[in-house]
Amino acid sequence: MLAETTAFTLDGIAARPVRVEVDVQRGLPSFQIVGLPDTAVREARERVRAALVNCGFEFPLKRITANLAPADLKKVGPGLDLALAAALLAAAGEISIDRLAGWAFAGELALDGTLRPVRGALAMAEAAGSNGSAGLILPPANGGEAAMALGVEVRVIESVAELRCLDDGELPGERPAPAEFRESGPLPDIADLRGQGHLRRALEISAAGGHGLLVVGPPGAGKSLAARRMNSILPPPDSGEILEIARIASVAGTGPVFGRRPFRAPHHTVSAAGLVGGGTPPGPGEITLAHGGVLFLDEICEFRRAALEALREPLESGEITIVRATGRQTLPCRFTLVAAANPCPCGRGEEDPGCRCSLSATTRYRAALSGALADRIDLNVAVEQPSAEAMAGSAGEDSATVRKRVIAAREVMTARYGRAKTNAAADAADLADLKIDRKAQSLVSSAHTACRLSGRAHDRVLRVARTIADLEACREVEEQHVASALDMRRRDRT
Ligand SMILES: Nc1ncnc2c1ncn2[C@@H]1O[C@H](COP(=O)(O)OP(=O)(O)O)[C@@H](O)[C@H]1O
Ligand SMILES: [Mg+2]
Repeated sequence: MLAETTAFTLDGIAARPVRVEVDVQRGLPSFQIVGLPDTAVREARERVRAALVNCGFEFPLKRITANLAPADLKKVGPGLDLALAAALLAAAGEISIDRLAGWAFAGELALDGTLRPVRGALAMAEAAGSNGSAGLILPPANGGEAAMALGVEVRVIESVAELRCLDDGELPGERPAPAEFRESGPLPDIADLRGQGHLRRALEISAAGGHGLLVVGPPGAGKSLAARRMNSILPPPDSGEILEIARIASVAGTGPVFGRRPFRAPHHTVSAAGLVGGGTPPGPGEITLAHGGVLFLDEICEFRRAALEALREPLESGEITIVRATGRQTLPCRFTLVAAANPCPCGRGEEDPGCRCSLSATTRYRAALSGALADRIDLNVAVEQPSAEAMAGSAGEDSATVRKRVIAAREVMTARYGRAKTNAAADAADLADLKIDRKAQSLVSSAHTACRLSGRAHDRVLRVARTIADLEACREVEEQHVASALDMRRRDRT
Protein backbone atom coordinates (compact mmCIF):
# COMPACT_ATOMS: atom_id res chain seq x y z
CA MET A 1 0.00 0.00 0.00
CA LEU A 2 1.07 3.58 -0.62
CA ALA A 3 0.69 6.61 1.66
CA GLU A 4 2.11 10.10 1.67
CA THR A 5 2.62 13.01 4.06
CA THR A 6 4.32 16.41 3.97
CA ALA A 7 7.44 17.43 5.90
CA PHE A 8 10.02 20.22 5.66
CA THR A 9 13.75 20.42 5.24
CA LEU A 10 15.85 23.49 5.99
CA ASP A 11 17.72 25.27 3.23
CA GLY A 12 19.61 28.36 4.42
CA ILE A 13 17.01 29.95 6.71
CA ALA A 14 14.03 28.78 4.64
CA ALA A 15 11.91 25.65 5.15
CA ARG A 16 11.24 23.75 1.92
CA PRO A 17 8.30 21.35 1.64
CA VAL A 18 9.10 17.67 1.10
CA ARG A 19 6.60 15.01 -0.03
CA VAL A 20 7.20 11.84 1.94
CA GLU A 21 5.87 8.77 0.05
CA VAL A 22 6.03 5.37 1.69
CA ASP A 23 5.28 2.15 -0.16
CA VAL A 24 4.88 -1.18 1.62
CA GLN A 25 5.05 -4.30 -0.59
CA ARG A 26 5.32 -8.01 -0.06
CA GLY A 27 8.92 -9.18 -0.27
CA LEU A 28 12.00 -9.64 1.81
CA PRO A 29 11.85 -7.33 4.88
CA SER A 30 13.81 -4.13 4.17
CA PHE A 31 13.52 -0.38 4.72
CA GLN A 32 15.02 1.99 2.13
CA ILE A 33 14.98 5.78 2.05
CA VAL A 34 15.69 7.44 -1.31
CA GLY A 35 15.55 11.07 -2.52
CA LEU A 36 18.87 12.66 -1.50
CA PRO A 37 18.73 12.00 2.27
CA ASP A 38 21.72 13.00 4.41
CA THR A 39 23.05 10.63 7.08
CA ALA A 40 20.63 11.90 9.75
CA VAL A 41 17.65 11.29 7.45
CA ARG A 42 18.92 7.83 6.49
CA GLU A 43 19.29 6.92 10.16
CA ALA A 44 15.61 7.73 10.64
CA ARG A 45 15.01 4.07 9.67
CA GLU A 46 16.35 2.86 13.01
CA ARG A 47 14.57 5.53 15.06
CA VAL A 48 11.22 4.99 13.30
CA ARG A 49 11.42 1.21 13.63
CA ALA A 50 12.23 1.31 17.38
CA ALA A 51 9.72 4.09 18.13
CA LEU A 52 6.81 2.34 16.40
CA VAL A 53 7.53 -1.02 18.04
CA ASN A 54 7.92 0.58 21.47
CA CYS A 55 4.59 2.39 21.05
CA GLY A 56 2.85 -0.93 20.42
CA PHE A 57 2.39 -0.65 16.65
CA GLU A 58 2.95 -3.63 14.37
CA PHE A 59 6.08 -2.96 12.30
CA PRO A 60 5.49 -4.49 8.84
CA LEU A 61 7.98 -7.23 7.99
CA LYS A 62 7.80 -6.31 4.32
CA ARG A 63 9.66 -4.39 1.68
CA ILE A 64 9.38 -0.71 2.66
CA THR A 65 10.46 2.10 0.34
CA ALA A 66 10.33 5.76 1.36
CA ASN A 67 10.79 8.40 -1.32
CA LEU A 68 11.46 12.05 -0.51
CA ALA A 69 10.48 14.48 -3.26
CA PRO A 70 11.65 16.68 -4.93
CA ALA A 71 14.54 14.29 -5.56
CA ASP A 72 17.06 17.05 -6.32
CA LEU A 73 16.70 18.82 -2.97
CA LYS A 74 19.03 17.65 -0.21
CA LYS A 75 17.05 16.52 2.85
CA VAL A 76 18.85 17.28 6.08
CA GLY A 77 18.41 16.58 9.78
CA PRO A 78 16.21 14.35 11.90
CA GLY A 79 13.09 16.52 11.54
CA LEU A 80 11.55 14.17 8.95
CA ASP A 81 11.19 11.27 11.44
CA LEU A 82 7.56 11.96 12.37
CA ALA A 83 6.41 12.39 8.76
CA LEU A 84 8.11 9.10 7.84
CA ALA A 85 6.53 7.31 10.80
CA ALA A 86 3.03 8.63 10.00
CA ALA A 87 3.28 7.69 6.31
CA LEU A 88 4.63 4.26 7.20
CA LEU A 89 1.80 3.60 9.69
CA ALA A 90 -0.76 4.61 7.08
CA ALA A 91 0.86 2.54 4.32
CA ALA A 92 0.96 -0.48 6.62
CA GLY A 93 -2.72 -0.01 7.45
CA GLU A 94 -2.01 0.59 11.14
CA ILE A 95 -3.77 3.98 11.19
CA SER A 96 -5.94 5.94 8.81
CA ILE A 97 -4.56 9.38 8.14
CA ASP A 98 -7.41 10.55 5.88
CA ARG A 99 -8.35 12.91 8.69
CA LEU A 100 -4.91 14.51 8.28
CA ALA A 101 -5.00 14.86 4.50
CA GLY A 102 -3.09 18.02 3.67
CA TRP A 103 -1.39 18.22 7.08
CA ALA A 104 2.37 18.44 7.53
CA PHE A 105 4.60 16.86 10.19
CA ALA A 106 7.86 17.84 11.88
CA GLY A 107 9.69 16.16 14.74
CA GLU A 108 12.57 13.91 15.68
CA LEU A 109 11.71 10.56 17.27
CA ALA A 110 13.26 9.14 20.42
CA LEU A 111 13.44 5.34 20.53
CA ASP A 112 10.46 5.23 22.92
CA GLY A 113 8.34 7.21 20.44
CA THR A 114 8.40 10.60 22.19
CA LEU A 115 9.12 13.64 20.05
CA ARG A 116 12.18 15.81 20.26
CA PRO A 117 12.13 19.44 19.07
CA VAL A 118 13.37 20.45 15.63
CA ARG A 119 15.13 23.55 14.39
CA GLY A 120 13.31 26.06 12.24
CA ALA A 121 9.77 25.32 13.50
CA LEU A 122 8.64 28.91 12.86
CA ALA A 123 9.91 28.84 9.27
CA MET A 124 8.23 25.43 8.82
CA ALA A 125 4.89 26.67 10.12
CA GLU A 126 5.07 29.71 7.83
CA ALA A 127 5.98 27.45 4.91
CA ALA A 128 3.05 25.16 5.78
CA GLY A 129 0.76 28.20 5.61
CA SER A 130 2.05 29.47 2.27
CA ASN A 131 2.22 25.93 0.87
CA GLY A 132 -1.49 25.48 1.41
CA SER A 133 -1.15 22.81 4.12
CA ALA A 134 -4.17 22.42 6.37
CA GLY A 135 -1.97 22.32 9.47
CA LEU A 136 1.25 21.22 11.10
CA ILE A 137 1.83 18.59 13.79
CA LEU A 138 5.01 18.94 15.80
CA PRO A 139 6.62 18.41 19.25
CA PRO A 140 5.39 20.41 22.28
CA ALA A 141 8.72 22.27 22.64
CA ASN A 142 8.18 23.83 19.19
CA GLY A 143 4.49 24.60 19.68
CA GLY A 144 4.62 28.20 20.91
CA GLU A 145 7.01 29.23 18.20
CA ALA A 146 5.03 27.55 15.40
CA ALA A 147 1.78 29.08 16.66
CA MET A 148 3.24 32.56 15.95
CA ALA A 149 2.83 31.87 12.23
CA LEU A 150 -0.41 33.19 10.77
CA GLY A 151 -2.89 31.27 8.69
CA VAL A 152 -1.97 27.72 9.66
CA GLU A 153 -3.39 25.39 12.31
CA VAL A 154 -0.78 23.94 14.64
CA ARG A 155 -1.10 20.94 16.99
CA VAL A 156 1.46 19.39 19.31
CA ILE A 157 1.82 15.74 20.27
CA GLU A 158 4.11 14.22 22.90
CA SER A 159 4.51 10.85 21.24
CA VAL A 160 3.89 9.13 17.94
CA ALA A 161 1.46 6.87 19.86
CA GLU A 162 -1.03 9.77 19.87
CA LEU A 163 -1.61 9.27 16.13
CA ARG A 164 -3.73 6.27 17.10
CA CYS A 165 -6.68 8.56 17.91
CA LEU A 166 -7.01 9.23 14.17
CA ASP A 167 -8.79 5.89 13.86
CA ASP A 168 -11.66 7.38 15.90
CA GLY A 169 -11.75 10.34 13.53
CA GLU A 170 -10.25 12.72 16.09
CA LEU A 171 -7.42 15.20 15.58
CA PRO A 172 -4.39 14.27 17.68
CA GLY A 173 -2.76 16.47 20.32
CA GLU A 174 -3.55 20.01 21.41
CA ARG A 175 -3.44 23.49 19.99
CA PRO A 176 -0.53 25.40 21.62
CA ALA A 177 -0.64 29.05 22.71
CA PRO A 178 1.59 31.41 20.68
CA ALA A 179 4.92 32.23 22.33
CA GLU A 180 5.34 35.71 23.72
CA PHE A 181 8.33 37.99 23.43
CA ARG A 182 10.04 38.18 26.80
CA GLU A 183 13.29 40.01 27.48
CA SER A 184 15.55 37.32 28.87
CA GLY A 185 17.32 38.27 32.12
CA PRO A 186 19.24 41.49 32.78
CA LEU A 187 22.25 42.25 30.56
CA PRO A 188 25.62 43.61 31.77
CA ASP A 189 25.14 47.30 32.47
CA ILE A 190 26.94 50.24 30.83
CA ALA A 191 27.40 51.72 34.34
CA ASP A 192 30.37 49.32 34.60
CA LEU A 193 32.32 51.50 32.16
CA ARG A 194 34.34 54.13 34.06
CA GLY A 195 35.39 57.36 32.38
CA GLN A 196 35.51 57.10 28.56
CA GLY A 197 32.82 59.75 28.08
CA HIS A 198 33.56 59.97 24.35
CA LEU A 199 33.13 56.24 23.88
CA ARG A 200 29.90 56.24 25.89
CA ARG A 201 28.52 58.97 23.67
CA ALA A 202 29.58 57.07 20.54
CA LEU A 203 27.83 53.93 21.81
CA GLU A 204 24.63 55.89 22.41
CA ILE A 205 24.72 57.45 18.93
CA SER A 206 25.47 54.06 17.39
CA ALA A 207 22.57 52.41 19.24
CA ALA A 208 20.14 55.20 18.37
CA GLY A 209 20.95 55.58 14.67
CA GLY A 210 22.21 52.07 13.87
CA HIS A 211 25.63 53.48 12.93
CA GLY A 212 28.69 51.25 12.71
CA LEU A 213 31.29 52.00 15.38
CA LEU A 214 35.06 51.50 15.36
CA VAL A 215 36.95 51.98 18.64
CA VAL A 216 40.75 52.24 18.57
CA GLY A 217 42.86 52.35 21.71
CA PRO A 218 45.41 50.59 23.91
CA PRO A 219 44.68 47.22 25.52
CA GLY A 220 42.80 47.28 28.81
CA ALA A 221 41.08 50.64 28.23
CA GLY A 222 37.60 49.14 28.30
CA LYS A 223 36.89 48.72 24.57
CA SER A 224 35.60 45.16 24.78
CA LEU A 225 33.82 45.88 28.04
CA ALA A 226 31.94 48.77 26.43
CA ALA A 227 31.07 46.89 23.22
CA ARG A 228 29.67 43.96 25.19
CA ARG A 229 27.21 46.34 26.83
CA MET A 230 25.81 47.65 23.56
CA ASN A 231 22.73 45.41 23.63
CA SER A 232 21.66 46.77 27.02
CA ILE A 233 20.99 50.19 25.44
CA LEU A 234 19.31 49.04 22.21
CA PRO A 235 15.56 49.58 21.87
CA PRO A 236 13.32 46.49 22.04
CA PRO A 237 12.62 44.94 18.61
CA ASP A 238 9.23 45.71 17.03
CA SER A 239 6.79 42.92 16.17
CA GLY A 240 8.19 42.47 12.65
CA GLU A 241 11.76 42.31 13.92
CA ILE A 242 10.78 39.83 16.64
CA LEU A 243 9.61 37.41 13.95
CA GLU A 244 12.66 38.00 11.73
CA ILE A 245 15.06 37.46 14.63
CA ALA A 246 13.14 34.42 15.85
CA ARG A 247 13.06 32.79 12.42
CA ILE A 248 16.85 32.96 12.19
CA ALA A 249 17.55 31.97 15.82
CA SER A 250 15.23 28.99 15.44
CA VAL A 251 16.88 27.70 12.25
CA ALA A 252 20.38 28.22 13.64
CA GLY A 253 19.51 26.83 17.06
CA THR A 254 20.94 29.94 18.74
CA GLY A 255 17.94 30.50 21.04
CA PRO A 256 16.24 31.80 23.09
CA VAL A 257 13.97 32.25 20.12
CA PHE A 258 11.82 35.06 21.48
CA GLY A 259 14.36 36.85 23.65
CA ARG A 260 16.51 39.83 22.84
CA ARG A 261 18.25 41.26 19.88
CA PRO A 262 21.24 39.04 19.02
CA PHE A 263 24.84 39.88 19.94
CA ARG A 264 27.40 37.95 17.88
CA ALA A 265 31.11 38.12 18.57
CA PRO A 266 32.88 35.68 16.22
CA HIS A 267 36.53 34.89 16.91
CA HIS A 268 39.04 36.53 14.55
CA THR A 269 39.91 33.16 12.98
CA VAL A 270 36.43 33.01 11.35
CA SER A 271 36.42 32.30 7.59
CA ALA A 272 34.68 34.48 5.02
CA ALA A 273 31.96 31.83 4.64
CA GLY A 274 31.54 31.62 8.42
CA LEU A 275 31.12 35.37 8.59
CA VAL A 276 28.79 36.09 5.66
CA GLY A 277 27.27 32.65 5.06
CA GLY A 278 27.77 29.82 2.59
CA GLY A 279 29.99 26.78 2.96
CA THR A 280 28.94 23.15 2.69
CA PRO A 281 26.21 22.54 3.63
CA PRO A 282 25.28 26.20 2.98
CA GLY A 283 24.06 28.00 6.04
CA PRO A 284 23.60 31.50 7.45
CA GLY A 285 26.79 33.29 8.54
CA GLU A 286 27.47 35.42 11.60
CA ILE A 287 26.10 38.53 9.86
CA THR A 288 22.71 36.85 9.39
CA LEU A 289 22.74 35.53 12.95
CA ALA A 290 23.36 39.16 14.02
CA HIS A 291 20.33 40.41 12.03
CA GLY A 292 18.45 42.99 14.10
CA GLY A 293 21.28 43.16 16.63
CA VAL A 294 25.02 43.67 16.99
CA LEU A 295 28.01 42.09 15.25
CA PHE A 296 31.08 42.69 17.41
CA LEU A 297 34.49 42.22 15.79
CA ASP A 298 37.00 42.41 18.62
CA GLU A 299 40.62 42.98 17.53
CA ILE A 300 39.41 43.67 13.98
CA CYS A 301 43.00 43.95 12.66
CA GLU A 302 43.53 40.25 13.39
CA PHE A 303 40.65 39.14 11.13
CA ARG A 304 41.39 37.64 7.73
CA ARG A 305 41.45 40.14 4.93
CA ALA A 306 39.02 38.13 2.81
CA ALA A 307 36.51 37.89 5.64
CA LEU A 308 36.53 41.65 6.23
CA GLU A 309 36.30 42.44 2.52
CA ALA A 310 33.24 40.18 2.26
CA LEU A 311 31.47 42.42 4.80
CA ARG A 312 31.47 45.49 2.60
CA GLU A 313 28.51 44.80 0.37
CA PRO A 314 26.15 43.33 3.00
CA LEU A 315 26.97 46.27 5.31
CA GLU A 316 25.50 48.65 2.73
CA SER A 317 22.60 46.58 1.46
CA GLY A 318 21.45 44.83 4.65
CA GLU A 319 21.22 41.49 2.85
CA ILE A 320 23.51 38.83 1.41
CA THR A 321 22.91 36.60 -1.59
CA ILE A 322 24.46 33.15 -1.43
CA VAL A 323 24.78 31.45 -4.79
CA ARG A 324 25.31 27.73 -5.20
CA ALA A 325 24.62 24.87 -7.59
CA THR A 326 20.98 24.40 -6.54
CA GLY A 327 20.07 28.07 -6.76
CA ARG A 328 20.48 31.33 -4.93
CA GLN A 329 19.16 32.51 -1.61
CA THR A 330 19.03 36.01 -0.17
CA LEU A 331 19.42 36.20 3.60
CA PRO A 332 18.71 39.29 5.71
CA CYS A 333 21.64 40.83 7.64
CA ARG A 334 20.73 44.27 8.97
CA PHE A 335 23.09 44.52 11.94
CA THR A 336 25.06 47.21 13.75
CA LEU A 337 28.79 46.66 13.41
CA VAL A 338 30.92 47.37 16.47
CA ALA A 339 34.65 46.86 16.03
CA ALA A 340 37.59 47.31 18.39
CA ALA A 341 41.30 47.52 17.59
CA ASN A 342 44.66 48.26 19.13
CA PRO A 343 46.58 51.10 17.44
CA CYS A 344 49.58 48.86 16.59
CA PRO A 345 50.66 45.22 17.09
CA CYS A 346 52.06 45.87 20.60
CA GLY A 347 49.05 48.00 21.50
CA ARG A 348 50.89 51.02 22.89
CA GLY A 349 50.52 53.25 19.83
CA GLU A 350 53.27 55.06 17.97
CA GLU A 351 53.12 58.15 20.21
CA ASP A 352 54.24 55.97 23.14
CA PRO A 353 58.05 55.87 23.50
CA GLY A 354 57.76 52.23 24.62
CA CYS A 355 56.30 51.19 21.23
CA ARG A 356 58.90 49.24 19.26
CA CYS A 357 56.67 48.32 16.32
CA SER A 358 58.19 49.12 12.94
CA LEU A 359 56.34 51.46 10.62
CA SER A 360 55.75 48.69 8.10
CA ALA A 361 54.42 46.29 10.77
CA THR A 362 52.03 48.96 12.03
CA THR A 363 50.87 49.84 8.51
CA ARG A 364 50.22 46.21 7.68
CA TYR A 365 48.42 45.72 10.98
CA ARG A 366 46.17 48.71 10.42
CA ALA A 367 45.20 47.84 6.86
CA ALA A 368 41.73 46.92 8.12
CA LEU A 369 41.34 50.37 9.67
CA SER A 370 42.08 52.38 6.57
CA GLY A 371 40.51 50.41 3.74
CA ALA A 372 37.13 50.43 2.11
CA LEU A 373 35.55 48.71 5.12
CA ALA A 374 36.52 51.53 7.48
CA ASP A 375 35.02 54.06 5.06
CA ARG A 376 31.68 52.33 5.66
CA ILE A 377 31.85 52.69 9.44
CA ASP A 378 30.13 55.92 10.49
CA LEU A 379 31.66 56.39 13.93
CA ASN A 380 35.37 56.17 14.54
CA VAL A 381 36.60 57.03 18.01
CA ALA A 382 39.93 56.86 19.82
CA VAL A 383 40.14 55.97 23.51
CA GLU A 384 42.96 56.39 26.01
CA GLN A 385 43.56 54.52 29.25
CA PRO A 386 41.01 55.60 31.87
CA SER A 387 42.53 57.87 34.52
CA ALA A 388 42.98 56.75 38.15
CA GLU A 389 40.24 59.19 39.20
CA ALA A 390 37.86 57.79 36.61
CA MET A 391 38.52 54.19 37.72
CA ALA A 392 38.04 55.11 41.41
CA GLY A 393 35.16 57.52 40.77
CA SER A 394 31.45 56.85 40.93
CA ALA A 395 29.65 54.90 38.22
CA GLY A 396 28.21 56.79 35.25
CA GLU A 397 24.67 56.63 33.88
CA ASP A 398 23.15 53.16 33.80
CA SER A 399 21.82 51.38 30.72
CA ALA A 400 18.16 52.04 31.54
CA THR A 401 18.70 55.82 31.46
CA VAL A 402 20.64 55.76 28.20
CA ARG A 403 18.19 53.34 26.64
CA LYS A 404 15.28 55.73 27.27
CA ARG A 405 16.96 58.39 25.14
CA VAL A 406 17.79 55.81 22.46
CA ILE A 407 14.17 54.64 22.32
CA ALA A 408 12.91 58.23 22.03
CA ALA A 409 15.31 58.91 19.13
CA ARG A 410 14.26 55.69 17.40
CA GLU A 411 10.63 56.73 17.64
CA VAL A 412 11.47 59.93 15.78
CA MET A 413 13.19 57.86 13.07
CA THR A 414 10.27 55.45 12.78
CA ALA A 415 7.92 58.41 12.33
CA ARG A 416 10.23 59.75 9.62
CA TYR A 417 11.07 56.59 7.63
CA GLY A 418 8.64 53.85 8.68
CA ARG A 419 9.38 50.74 10.69
CA ALA A 420 12.82 49.34 11.50
CA LYS A 421 14.71 51.96 9.49
CA THR A 422 17.37 54.10 11.11
CA ASN A 423 19.37 57.15 10.06
CA ALA A 424 22.29 54.86 9.20
CA ALA A 425 20.12 53.36 6.44
CA ALA A 426 18.91 56.74 5.12
CA ASP A 427 19.26 56.85 1.32
CA ALA A 428 19.98 59.75 -1.02
CA ALA A 429 16.34 60.81 -1.14
CA ASP A 430 16.14 60.83 2.67
CA LEU A 431 19.28 62.95 2.86
CA ALA A 432 17.90 65.39 0.31
CA ASP A 433 14.95 65.89 2.67
CA LEU A 434 17.23 66.37 5.65
CA LYS A 435 16.30 69.46 7.61
CA ILE A 436 19.58 71.25 8.15
CA ASP A 437 20.19 74.93 8.92
CA ARG A 438 22.50 77.15 6.90
CA LYS A 439 25.38 77.32 9.38
CA ALA A 440 25.39 73.55 9.80
CA GLN A 441 25.44 73.05 6.03
CA SER A 442 28.41 75.36 5.60
CA LEU A 443 30.30 73.53 8.37
CA VAL A 444 29.75 70.23 6.55
CA SER A 445 30.98 71.79 3.32
CA SER A 446 34.11 73.28 4.81
CA ALA A 447 34.95 70.01 6.61
CA HIS A 448 34.44 68.19 3.34
CA THR A 449 37.08 70.34 1.67
CA ALA A 450 39.48 70.61 4.61
CA CYS A 451 39.48 66.88 5.47
CA ARG A 452 39.17 65.76 1.84
CA LEU A 453 36.18 63.57 2.70
CA SER A 454 34.91 61.04 0.20
CA GLY A 455 31.38 61.56 -1.07
CA ARG A 456 30.36 58.63 1.07
CA ALA A 457 32.01 60.11 4.16
CA HIS A 458 30.21 63.41 3.54
CA ASP A 459 26.83 61.68 3.60
CA ARG A 460 27.85 59.71 6.66
CA VAL A 461 28.57 62.91 8.57
CA LEU A 462 25.06 64.09 7.68
CA ARG A 463 23.49 60.83 8.88
CA VAL A 464 25.35 60.91 12.19
CA ALA A 465 24.49 64.59 12.67
CA ARG A 466 20.83 63.70 12.08
CA THR A 467 21.02 61.06 14.81
CA ILE A 468 22.63 63.47 17.25
CA ALA A 469 19.86 65.98 16.52
CA ASP A 470 17.24 63.24 17.01
CA LEU A 471 18.76 62.34 20.39
CA GLU A 472 18.23 65.99 21.38
CA ALA A 473 14.75 66.04 19.83
CA CYS A 474 15.74 68.86 17.44
CA ARG A 475 13.78 69.17 14.22
CA GLU A 476 16.65 70.81 12.37
CA VAL A 477 20.27 69.68 12.23
CA GLU A 478 22.28 72.52 13.75
CA GLU A 479 25.93 73.49 13.71
CA GLN A 480 26.80 71.80 17.01
CA HIS A 481 25.29 68.51 15.78
CA VAL A 482 27.57 68.55 12.74
CA ALA A 483 30.55 69.46 14.94
CA SER A 484 29.80 66.45 17.20
CA ALA A 485 29.43 64.22 14.15
CA LEU A 486 32.82 65.34 12.82
CA ASP A 487 34.28 64.70 16.26
CA MET A 488 33.21 61.06 15.85
CA ARG A 489 35.39 60.60 12.77
CA ARG A 490 38.89 60.34 14.22
CA ARG A 491 40.33 58.94 11.00
CA ASP A 492 39.48 61.97 8.87
CA ARG A 493 41.03 64.35 11.32
CA THR A 494 44.42 62.66 11.38
N1 LIG B 1 37.11 52.21 31.41
C1 LIG B 1 37.01 51.12 32.20
N2 LIG B 1 36.02 51.04 33.10
C2 LIG B 1 35.90 49.97 33.90
N3 LIG B 1 36.72 48.89 33.83
C3 LIG B 1 37.72 48.91 32.95
C4 LIG B 1 37.90 50.01 32.09
N4 LIG B 1 38.98 49.75 31.32
C5 LIG B 1 39.42 48.55 31.68
N5 LIG B 1 38.69 48.03 32.67
C6 LIG B 1 38.92 46.73 33.31
O1 LIG B 1 39.86 46.03 32.52
C7 LIG B 1 39.32 44.85 31.97
C8 LIG B 1 39.75 44.70 30.53
O2 LIG B 1 39.11 45.66 29.72
P1 LIG B 1 38.77 45.38 28.20
O3 LIG B 1 37.48 46.03 27.89
O4 LIG B 1 38.87 43.96 27.91
O5 LIG B 1 39.96 46.16 27.50
P2 LIG B 1 40.28 46.30 25.96
O6 LIG B 1 39.24 45.57 25.19
O7 LIG B 1 40.26 47.77 25.70
O8 LIG B 1 41.62 45.72 25.79
C9 LIG B 1 37.83 45.00 32.10
O9 LIG B 1 37.20 43.77 32.27
C10 LIG B 1 37.70 45.85 33.36
O10 LIG B 1 37.78 45.04 34.51
MG1 LIG C 1 39.58 43.84 24.10
